[in-house]
Amino acid sequence: MTATIIDGKAIAQELRGNIAKAAAQLAKEHGIVPGLAVVLVGNDPASEVYVKSKSKAVTEAGMKSFDHKLPADTSQADLLKLIEQLNADKSVHGILVQLPLPSQIDSTLVLNSIDPGKDVDGFHPVNAGRLATGQRALVPCTPVGSVILAKTINPSLAGLDAVVIGRSNIVGKPLAQLLLAENCTVTIAHSKTKDLKEVCRRADLLFAAVGRPEMVRGDWIKPGATVIDVGINRVPGEGGKTRLVGDVNYKEALEVAGAVTPVPGGVGPMTIACVILNTLRAACASAGLPEPKV
Ligand code: GUN
Repeated sequence: MTATIIDGKAIAQELRGNIAKAAAQLAKEHGIVPGLAVVLVGNDPASEVYVKSKSKAVTEAGMKSFDHKLPADTSQADLLKLIEQLNADKSVHGILVQLPLPSQIDSTLVLNSIDPGKDVDGFHPVNAGRLATGQRALVPCTPVGSVILAKTINPSLAGLDAVVIGRSNIVGKPLAQLLLAENCTVTIAHSKTKDLKEVCRRADLLFAAVGRPEMVRGDWIKPGATVIDVGINRVPGEGGKTRLVGDVNYKEALEVAGAVTPVPGGVGPMTIACVILNTLRAACASAGLPEPKV
């Protein structure tokens, strides 16, 4: 069997087109242009790439992008002051502080200082709580993108056995909440899980979000399952170069799974699309408007 390859790049492109249309309508009917402030502290090369692609996606969707690049030695007090200004700025509907932050800054304190209504990452405890209790929330972008990809294969996820490997606040936990809301039977597996391979083999939907290169092997996958690979790991490649691999052994997964996401070109582009989706959603909510249809 050769699995269907889930083309995250194409699906994200289509979603971004729909978001752009909804944003244009919001501007025409209500005079609102959604704005996203992206804050980068320091010059981590990977973070710089992410931030650039987020700003570009925002602009391409017809929204405003406000970039704040601060030096690596920025104090926590100065960063908190900037967030206070952005919280008060009516033209800013979304605030994203790129992680990781330098060690002199308490990340939790900073993330908790963002207005929950502008928290497009969905990391604020208010949004985590709203998601867990089924209320309108800003939901972390990677989990949302992962579920959208799974639904391209299984339009209804109801009743399916979903296994999430990884229990981070950014991916594993919110992903499990979203899958529960889709009526899946959800298992969260992690580094202390007994018989991890056997747990994974039960999954109709397998989500790998552990950050361990190619940890999920072909014989961990139930034949025909949908496999969503959230991992992005840089490993040594040929000729002294590096290459990107996921948390799933892609070649082996192709032989067993029903459908699988590639790395790169799977979940990554969906995360960016969902950042602009959340910016649009935050702008609508701040104006008392219903959820945008995209
Ligand atoms: N760094 C790596 N992933 C993310 C993310 O989803 N959001 C933010 N703010 N920083 C990140």
